Amino acid sequence: MLDLSLDTNLLDPDLIPNNLGPPHQLFDAWRETDPIHWNPPSESYDPPSPNASLRKGFYVLTRHADVREVSLDQDRFSSHDGGPIIWDFEGEQLARQQAGLMGMRPRDHMAMKALVAPPFGAKELSSFYPEVQQVAKEIVDSVAHLSKCEFAFDVASKLPVYTFCKLLGVPDDMRERVFTLGNLIADTEKRDRSEDEDYAGFELMRIGNDLAREKLTNPDNSAMSRLVHGEVEGRKLDEASIGMFFVTLSIAGHETTRNTATHFLRLMREHPDQYDLLRSDLDKYLPNAIEEVLRHSPPVIKFRRTVTRDTEVSGHQFRKGDKIYLSYPAANHDPAVFDDPHKFDITRPNARKHLAFGVGPHFCMGAGLARYQLRALLTQWLTRFPDFTIDGEMEMLPSIWFNAVIKMPISFTPEIA
Ligand code: HEM
Repeated sequence: MLDLSLDTNLLDPDLIPNNLGPPHQLFDAWRETDPIHWNPPSESYDPPSPNASLRKGFYVLTRHADVREVSLDQDRFSSHDGGPIIWDFEGEQLARQQAGLMGMRPRDHMAMKALVAPPFGAKELSSFYPEVQQVAKEIVDSVAHLSKCEFAFDVASKLPVYTFCKLLGVPDDMRERVFTLGNLIADTEKRDRSEDEDYAGFELMRIGNDLAREKLTNPDNSAMSRLVHGEVEGRKLDEASIGMFFVTLSIAGHETTRNTATHFLRLMREHPDQYDLLRSDLDKYLPNAIEEVLRHSPPVIKFRRTVTRDTEVSGHQFRKGDKIYLSYPAANHDPAVFDDPHKFDITRPNARKHLAFGVGPHFCMGAGLARYQLRALLTQWLTRFPDFTIDGEMEMLPSIWFNAVIKMPISFTPEIA
C-alpha cells in the first residue's frame, strides 16, 4: 500500500496498479477536506502516446452531487471544448475526439443521437436479448471443456464485440477481426502501442465504411442499415461520421462490459457470503448484484469536462477553460448517498443510483445493452461453473482511465463433452 498523503498526484504512475483499482483512500480524504481537489500536472507522468499530453492540471470532483451537477449541464461544462477525455489534444487529434458522439457540439450530438439511439432503447433491446443470450452461450461453450482459462480475454471481452457485430450487421466471419482490432485500441495506456492503435482505428473505419456501402445497396433491419438510410437534420451522414461511429461503438462497450464481468467474479470470490446469497436465488439477486458491482467497482474511472464560462459549483469558483475530472468511483463511494459505501452488498436498495454510466445528455447509450450482456453472460457462467476459483495472480491495467483487469486466471470443473 502506498503512503497516500493529501497531495498525492493522481498521475503517479504507481498509484492505481499498486492500489489494485481506484485510490479510494485518497478520494475519501479529499471528499472530506477538499472535495473539489486541484491535481497539478506531474513531471513523472508518461502519456500513453506522443499526442496525448497532460500539461494542464485538473480539478477532481469526488462528491456524487458535484459529479451529477456537472454532468447534467453541458452548457457550462462541455465535453466538446477540449474533448471528453483527460489528455490535452490539439489540432487534428482534438478534431478526431470531437467527431465522436461524446465530443460533438450539443446540437449535433442531439441530432446524431436521435438517429443512432433507437436500437439501444428498451423495446428494441428486449427483442434482441435472445441473440445476446445465444452469443453468451457460444462464448461459454468455447471454454466449457477446459478446466482453466483466462477469464478477462477468453470470455468476458468477446461478448461486447460479438453482440455489437450482431447489432450492426457485421457478418459472423468478420467478428474475430473486429475483436482483434478492438483489442489493439482498448487498454490504450499500455506502452508501445500507438502505431498499432492508429492502424486499428483506420482499419475499423474501413470495415465500417465497407459495411455501410453494402447496407446502402442491400438494406436490412440492422443498426448500420438504418444509419446509412437515415438522416441527421435532413442530411445523410458522410463516410467519416459513419466510420467514426463504427469505431466508437466497437470500443465503447469493450473495456467496460469486460471489466464489469471480471470484477463481478472477483468480488464474488472476495465476498463468499454475498456469493452464497446470490446463488440461493440467482434470478432474484442477479440484477441488483450487477448494479452493486457497477457501483462498487465501476470500470470507467473518469471522463472530462471543460468549463465554458466562469461559474460556481458547491461554492467552488471555476474559471473558463478549467479542466474537470469526473471521478465515478469516488461519486459511487460517497457516504452522503450510499450507507457504508465501501461495503459490497448485493441487496443495497439504492445501488442503481451509481454514476458508472454517467448521467445527463451523455449518459451511456449502451447501458441497457451492457446490462443485458452482463445478465446473459453471468447467468451462463454461474449456472454452469459455480465452483470457479481465481487461480493465479490478477493483473490490473496501469491506467488512469479504466479500472481494468487484464488478466484473471480461473479454474473450474469442466463440462463433459
Ligand atoms: C458496463 C458497461 C459500460 C459502462 C460502465 C459505460 C460507461 C460509460 C460512461 C461513463 C459514459 C460517459 C458518460 C458521460 O460522459 O456523461 C459512456 C458513454 C457512452 N457509452 Fe458506455 N459504458 C458501458 C457500455 C457501453 C456499451 C455496451 C456501449 C455500446 C455498444 C456503450 C456506448 C456508449 C456511447 C455511444 C457513449 C456516448 C454517449 C453520448 O455521448 O451521448 N457503452 N459510457
